[in-house]
Parts: sequence; C-alpha cells; structure tokens
Amino acid sequence: MQLRLQKILSQAGVASRRAAETLIASGRVSVSGVTVREMGTKADPARDDIRVDGRRVRGPERHRYILLNKPAGYVTTRSDPQRRPTVIDLLRGVREYLYPVGRLDYDTEGLLLVTNDGELAARLTHPRHGVERAYEARVAGVPDEDDLQRLRRGIPLDGRRTLPAEVALVIPRRGAERVLRVTIREGRTRQVRRMCEAVGHPVRALRRVRIGPLEDRALAPGKWRELTPAEVRRLRTAATRVTRPAAGAEAAGSRGTRR
Ligand code: URA
Repeated sequence: MQLRLQKILSQAGVASRRAAETLIASGRVSVSGVTVREMGTKADPARDDIRVDGRRVRGPERHRYILLNKPAGYVTTRSDPQRRPTVIDLLRGVREYLYPVGRLDYDTEGLLLVTNDGELAARLTHPRHGVERAYEARVAGVPDEDDLQRLRRGIPLDGRRTLPAEVALVIPRRGAERVLRVTIREGRTRQVRRMCEAVGHPVRALRRVRIGPLEDRALAPGKWRELTPAEVRRLRTAATRVTRPAAGAEAAGSRGTRR
C-alpha cells in the first residue's frame, strides 16, 4: 500500500512526522536508491527499499521508552556536527533508532526521555499539552521574594512573556548560592537560564528533575532505564490533556524556538 513517506517513517519509529519532514527536506531519505526531497512522495513500505542515512526502514517497530539521566557535557541530538558526545552514545546496547524528546542544553543535566514513539514525542513537546518540566537551578546570589514573584509571573523573553511558573527556594543554605526549583510548561531556548539571568541570579548549574509524571532520584548521571508500562500510561495521559487550547494554537507556529 502506498503511504506518504512521513507516515511510513513515523510508524516505523524513525522520527515524529514533523521530524520526518526535516529528514526528507535535508536529503537523508531514499526510496529504492533515489534520494527523495519532495514532501508529498508516497512509497510502499512492503515493496520499496526505504532508507534513512542509508539504514533500511522496516515496518512498524516495537516502541521503546528510555529514561536517561543526562550528564553535563553531552548534546541532545543523534549526531553533532562538532563531534561532541551525544546522549545516544550513552545508550550502549540499544539497537533501535531512538531520538531524544525535546532538548537539554549541553551543560544541563537530568532526566531526558529517549524513544522511537514519534506520536508520543510530538505530543509531549507540543505547547498545547503544556507538559510540566521541573528543574533545580543553582543560582548565583540569594534571590528575594520579589525575584521569585517575577519568575512566577513570567519574564519577557524575545518579546513574549514566559507562562506562569512555579518557583520555590528548595535548599535554603548558608553561603553565597541558592537552589531554585522551577517548574515550567513550555520549552523555549535556554528558558530557565534566561529567566534566572533576567532577575539577576545567573544559573551556575541546572538539572531537570521531572518530566510530567516521571521522576527518578535514584538514576545516576549517565545511567538509563526502560519506563515501566504504568509510567508510559501516565505519560500518555499527561500528553493528552489540553492545558492551553487558545495559546497553544498560537505557540504551535513558533515551535522552532525550542532549545
Ligand atoms: N532551561 C534551560 O535554560 N536549559 C535547559 O537545558 C532546559 C531548560
């Protein structure tokens, strides 16, 4: 049966439909030996030799859901033009073509979901669903209540205010630095770092500690594990809720601004 290439690639777990379009446009997809860049192209997954970066794409694949604790010093992509280590390098023994859901900065640590379930990945990153992400940010100086309120209300970044956030001082300690727990529902470029910078408390170290319902304090940096079926169910529920019907439609047009 002839299907659009984007659909074949997303069903095979290679990429979300949106990411598949990028793969096609960048000339990384071939059908029976011919590179395809045309978006409407159809093919038959049962008969045609469909490849991404030379690797054969087969029928719908078993979905895998991996929770990785990314250490600082790794990029959140499958391959890096600067040849820095990637999060995929940490998944030794995993043979499926998996990709990270959303991004963490090179210097950021913490929880990252890596999967080949393109539909779930697209939902989790879509602003319409507003799936929460919680971060612990060690910041310079000691933010006061006024700083915390500004962070909670939203900070103008690139001409658009960030959505209301939950912000708490988590480890009140002596010394010159504090840790803030910041929970946000969007994923704008270097968002937590830029928010803290804007209130005069630059981030010294940043770690993601929760993605929607997923938390795991016992997972050491550089380690990963499969999600349990119950965690996958909870994640699906979180990624199905619509938290921002109106603003989501507007923000969907500006998704290119993610980290
Ligand atoms: N906010 C940031 O500033 N960086 C990240 O990696 C994630 C959220």
